[in-house]
Amino acid sequence: MIGRMASLPSVPMPAFPGEPECIAVTTAIPGPRSEELRVRHGKHQDARTVHVYQDAKKSLGNYLVDVDGNVMLDLYGHIACVPLGYNHPELLSAWRSGRFDWAAGYRPALGVAPPAEWVELVERALMRIAPHGLNHVMTVTSGAEAVENAIKAAFIRLAQRRRGAKPVSPDELAACMKNAQPDVEKFKVLSFEGGFHGRTLGALSLTRSKAIHKLDFPAFDWPTAPFPGNRFPLADHAEENARSEARSLEEVERVLRAHPDEVAAVIVEPIQGEGGDRHASSGFFRALRKLTKDHGAAFIADEVQTGGGVTGSWWAHESWDLDEPPDLVTFSKKLQLGGVYMREAFVPAEPYRLFSTFLGDPLRLAQLEVIVEVALRDRLLESTAITGAFLVRGLEELAARFPSVFSDARGRGTYAAIDVAQPAMLPRMLERFRAAGLEVGSSGTKSIRFRPALVFAPRHVAEALDLFAHVAESFA
Ligand SMILES: Cc1ncc(COP(=O)(O)O)c(C=O)c1O
Repeated sequence: MIGRMASLPSVPMPAFPGEPECIAVTTAIPGPRSEELRVRHGKHQDARTVHVYQDAKKSLGNYLVDVDGNVMLDLYGHIACVPLGYNHPELLSAWRSGRFDWAAGYRPALGVAPPAEWVELVERALMRIAPHGLNHVMTVTSGAEAVENAIKAAFIRLAQRRRGAKPVSPDELAACMKNAQPDVEKFKVLSFEGGFHGRTLGALSLTRSKAIHKLDFPAFDWPTAPFPGNRFPLADHAEENARSEARSLEEVERVLRAHPDEVAAVIVEPIQGEGGDRHASSGFFRALRKLTKDHGAAFIADEVQTGGGVTGSWWAHESWDLDEPPDLVTFSKKLQLGGVYMREAFVPAEPYRLFSTFLGDPLRLAQLEVIVEVALRDRLLESTAITGAFLVRGLEELAARFPSVFSDARGRGTYAAIDVAQPAMLPRMLERFRAAGLEVGSSGTKSIRFRPALVFAPRHVAEALDLFAHVAESFA
């Protein structure tokens, strides 16, 4: 700890006011009050997935306080959903000052009678951070809904293109009412092995991370291709990684050629999240973008988990240096509400084709406006890039020091991970981390993932890595 603390890189963001100085564990985790609540909660909801019950008011910055009073350093951030840490003073003072009052009295159907404030928020929050080249945005509630609407937009566009100048025929309208559109039923979306795109029925046909997500549900027979899943350190695996990227691109091209004018879209996560923090090079994504363009398939970057600043920029795909932006970019999690940015050409000609009752949540967008203001004012993205580089270096050192325990340290910004040697080790290790006061999560079958807030600083990295080393000693 001392060594690492002495050489902390400096970051431009200010310290989080009043944040605890360190982890403080006083009971088992989960503790007795958490377990008591789990029993009560479990009577009416499935409480088996709960790590701990949180004291929402006492949690501060990067430290989650649980109902037993344990202060845990949060590396997981509610599955990547906490942008400014817990109870950021700007969010609380915006709330207390009445800035959100207009959103508190009712929840509107935003496609029918949106408050005037909504229009300003779209401009000041969502368009302020919009990916380059995408000036239209549909808002929804969750990531899966964002994916559903992105693929619907791609299907509508493909059908429009195939129809050309012809109007929709009465036969087509009658056929769709019988769930029988022979041409449309051939439409497909390609997703990658190991990808995760949500759990609603359409999105689930794209999800290919774990069988348990898909078991017992009917699915579309849509194509897939292997995701490269580069090995780390990159320098030691350069040839193998290049080969797996080439194999993946060949398979995508084969699918696109085999189904001319039927693949409406290719959807890809910039870094596969749930599937195990799997990375590919910028060159891979540039080649993929070109393939989609050459074959008339929409390119969907699913940034539900990578978006919102955690990679050091608002959108992970910005680092690919694409000649042409993605057609559609999905988001949720750190942005607090779900949505799809789209190029103008993907806005359907008729209204109501991409629609729902709520179309998002004004309160969440009002909070996002504050989050964006704070992120820009406090230079959180630059800080995240610096903290992330420090974190990944630290993880690499851990992998070098404990080769029988850890491997494949990797990350961009603080979106980082490290693998354990055997999948069987993972549950025990997560338990040990939590017992030591680290709120952690896994991805894939053998990765420990970091999804902290944008206020995660080098001192938090040092605290976490010291505990990683301590736990690793007992597994080595
Ligand atoms: C890349 C990606 N897409 C879609 C989703 C689905 O989001 P939600 O759980 O909000 O429906 C997730 C959730 O983890 C995700 O990581």
